[in-house]
Amino acid sequence: MSKSAKIIRSVKDLRKQIAKWRASEKSIALVPTMGALHDGHISLVKLAKKKADRVVVSIFVNPSQFAPTEDLSRYPRDETGDLNRLNAVETDLVWAPDVSEMYPDGFSTRVTPGTTSQNLEGEFRPHHFGGVATVCCKLFSQVTPDMAIFGEKDYQQLVVLRQMVCDLNLPLTLVGAPTRREKDGLALSSRNTYLSVQERDIAPSLYAAISDVADKVSEGADISASIAAAKQKLISNGFTKVDYLEVCDADTLVPIVTPTDRPLRVLVAAWLGKTRLIDNVAV
Ligand code: PAF
Repeated sequence: MSKSAKIIRSVKDLRKQIAKWRASEKSIALVPTMGALHDGHISLVKLAKKKADRVVVSIFVNPSQFAPTEDLSRYPRDETGDLNRLNAVETDLVWAPDVSEMYPDGFSTRVTPGTTSQNLEGEFRPHHFGGVATVCCKLFSQVTPDMAIFGEKDYQQLVVLRQMVCDLNLPLTLVGAPTRREKDGLALSSRNTYLSVQERDIAPSLYAAISDVADKVSEGADISASIAAAKQKLISNGFTKVDYLEVCDADTLVPIVTPTDRPLRVLVAAWLGKTRLIDNVAV
């Protein structure tokens, strides 16, 4: 029989539980999520269980990382389904504060990330990484984990948060875990539930396009030409708009147009009708 996770909704109760674990010298891993959990999240929880004595999964749909134009109310929510999935993998604790616990009346501090947050997603969602950094800073200080596990699906998020942890001397390690994919290559994402049957058929060509760019760049092809061809392919496959498709330095996210020995990453965001998909691969 699976073990039921303890659900905690107040910072006060959370601190009591963490103090008990610390008193018995347990290491703690945090898996931050916004719920609507899929196999990608569950693989992060399984990795966390291998790395630490106790695993905390936070479920909090963070309003501060959505712009007023982005539909926060449309974000999928299924707490019962999430808890069932977390119980099945024996999660120790679910940290599920409501908005007033996370952002009480009078809350007025915001973390402003630097250059790694400004291009790619930052150009199209200027509000986003400030909200992510702020809530993660709070989650890290609430849970005080030894490590936090993030999927590489949101690669820029991981880079921005690594910079924040380094800059603010936060006492935890960030662990990046490989993107989980469907058999046809589509990266697992809570947003895939928005796709129509026809859009779902087109969606895997996003991964195919960036994999093709990564292959070409590693074989020494012209970077700008490879990017232009991939963008064109996406549109001819049925994507409605490509926000960006770039080859970037994997650590700094500075766009690269001439060959280099530095580790590179291909990152993309593109629209299929009303749904915006992101993905990335290493070169
Ligand atoms: O990746 C996410 O689900 C969110 O951005 C995170 C890290 C949980 C912060 O709200």
